[in-house]
Order: sequence, then structure tokens, then C-alpha cells
Amino acid sequence: MRKGLFALAAVGLLATGSMAACGKDDKGSGSGSGSGTTATGKVGVILPDTKSSARWATADVKYLKEAFDAAGVQADIQNAQGDKTQFQTIADGMISSGVKVLMIVNLDSGTGKAVLDKAKAAGIATIDYDRLTLNGGADYYVSFDNVKVGELQGQGLVDCLTANKAVKPVVAELNGSPTDNNATLFKQGYDSVLKPKYDSGDFVKGPDQSVPDWDNAQAGTIFEQMLTSNKNIKGVLAANDGLGNAAISVLKKNKLNGQVPVTGQDATTQGLQNILVGDQCMTVYKAIKQEADAASKLAIDIAKGQKPTTATGKVTDPESKKDVASVLLTPKSITKENVKDVVADGFVTKEELCTAEFAKACTDAGIS
Ligand code: BGC
Repeated sequence: MRKGLFALAAVGLLATGSMAACGKDDKGSGSGSGSGTTATGKVGVILPDTKSSARWATADVKYLKEAFDAAGVQADIQNAQGDKTQFQTIADGMISSGVKVLMIVNLDSGTGKAVLDKAKAAGIATIDYDRLTLNGGADYYVSFDNVKVGELQGQGLVDCLTANKAVKPVVAELNGSPTDNNATLFKQGYDSVLKPKYDSGDFVKGPDQSVPDWDNAQAGTIFEQMLTSNKNIKGVLAANDGLGNAAISVLKKNKLNGQVPVTGQDATTQGLQNILVGDQCMTVYKAIKQEADAASKLAIDIAKGQKPTTATGKVTDPESKKDVASVLLTPKSITKENVKDVVADGFVTKEELCTAEFAKACTDAGIS
């Protein structure tokens, strides 16, 4: 069985190597059906879930598919639906189907590493997409500057609290999943902005809790408990729009929405709508098209037997201490003033954002 896999991978390599010269004119089906006659290799992509953020269902899959289709490279893009066993099953299937490149967004570093190890043993190139797999040893890593994401969130909250003329506000922190290295980096970023405020006494440090698997429902329960035990919470650092919306729902029940600034991330339609009506203070827009383009470019080059040249940065894996060739993109802070920039960038359409309930807020925000 194992031997068979290696043989398959080796044949794939040979075929691509000898036909690399005609790679430019290759047209893959892009559907994953696989006739086995194309010169370029196949790419497998595993996305994590559809609930921790709207992005995985609405943005990443769309932009990745568009990029692979445009390059004529066959891509099998699947979603593990938050299930680690399913994640591994999908990976096994992709590896034995002979993909040349495997791109993953891990559900945690342990299961992510197991998959990367198997892929490597089968001679498959690996890409960590958005989340670094700690000690995973992926060949490439494509993401945003995630510490910067956190800094923008911290600064956004400071700006909103300052605009509210809040005096010694108690700030609650609703962090992302403890198993997601990005959540660690976001926290590093926002704590670098908030800690000096706590230290100086300008802000008061309130409850600070992680949300397992970024589970939005659990975030609501956690925030409800935070607010019950600390009625004086005046600001919420929520690590993404889903967690932010969970906090906003609880604030609404307590008629506090709009008075307690809440942060977010991902520029989801819901997050942007919350900003437009004043329930959310800011979000962080990560141009996912750029991220998908950068990651698929690496995968396409490898699939076509070419050595990628675009991962010019490097990130040091904090566990293995090894450098991973990387592309890190720049995030952007979004408030009511520049929600229109997200529309202009094509990430969300006016029709999606400005439904009847939000029509006036959209007009007020200059979205026409
Ligand atoms: C991603 C965020 C996302 C979160 C939950 C993080 O790793 O960088 O964009 O909101 O996971 O899915």
C-alpha cells in the first residue's frame, strides 16, 4: 500500500518533469475529475470549517478556485467542517489520489503536523495556508502579518474608547482558539497596545478568555458570564467578527449595544453591518483574494514543475525554530469611515451589505 503510494508519486514527478516545457498551455479541468493525461500535477486544499468565520465558506474557496481554474490547474478543495478525523480522512484521500501539492488550514497543530508528515513522506509539497502548523515543517506559509492584525484591533478599541470619552474603562478580551497559532499572534498584537494602558491605569483589565475552536455559540456563553460577573465592562476586544457578534448579541439583550465598543476581524458582511449601525467599533480587513492568489501561485508553480520564487519572506516556527519560506500580507483597519473601501475592493457587494435594514446606514457611510 505504502509502496504503491510512493510509486504513484514518483510517476507523477516524472511525468511533470518531462512535460514541464508545455506547462504554459496546459488546461486542467479544474474540477478534480482527473484524466491523468495532463502534464501538471493536482493540488489538494483542506479548509478548516464553515462556522468559526464566514470567510472559509464565502471567500477562500471562491478565490482559490478562481485562481486554479485560471491557471488550468486541477484543484480538489474540501472543507473538514471542524472535524479533525474528517480532516485526516480528506488528507489521506488526497495523498492517495496523487496530489502534487497539499495546502492546509489546520484545525490544530497536532493533527496538522500528522497530515504534513504523511504528505512529505509521499513526496508531496506542502503549504500552510493562513495558519502556521507549529513544528509542522511545511515547505511554505502564506498568511497576513497576524501580530499587526492584533495591533490594529488594540488600536481600534483604544480609538473607540477615546471617542466615547470612557474613563478607566474595564476591557474584556475574547480571544480566538487556543489551538490556533494565529490567535496567539493576534493576542500578542492587541496586548502590546492594551497592556501599557492597563499598566498606566488608563484602562482596567477585565476578564480575558479564549474561545475553544473559535466557536461563536460558546463565545456568547462566555461573554454572558463575563458581563454577569462584571457589569462594568466598557470595551470588548473580540478576536474576530463572529466572536464580536456573539458579544454584541449579549450586549443587545442588556440594552448596551452601541455603548460598549467591540472589535472584530475578517470584514464579514455581518461584521460590516454591525459597524454601519454602530454596534461594532471596527474590523480588520484581510484581502483574502491576495492571500488565495499568493498561496495558489506557489501551488501552481509546483504543480507545473517550476520552483516558486514568490515566497521571499520567512517566518520562524516558534517550536522547531526552523524558518519557513513565507508570504505575509498587510491587514487594514476598517471603521464606519472606510467600510466603503471593502466594497470598492470587491470583497463584499453593495447588494449583500446594504439590504433594506442597512440601506440608510450605507448611504450615510457613502456606499452608493
Ligand atoms: C483566521 C481568521 C479567522 C479565524 C477563525 C484564524 O486563523 O486567521 O481570519 O477568523 O481563524 O476561523
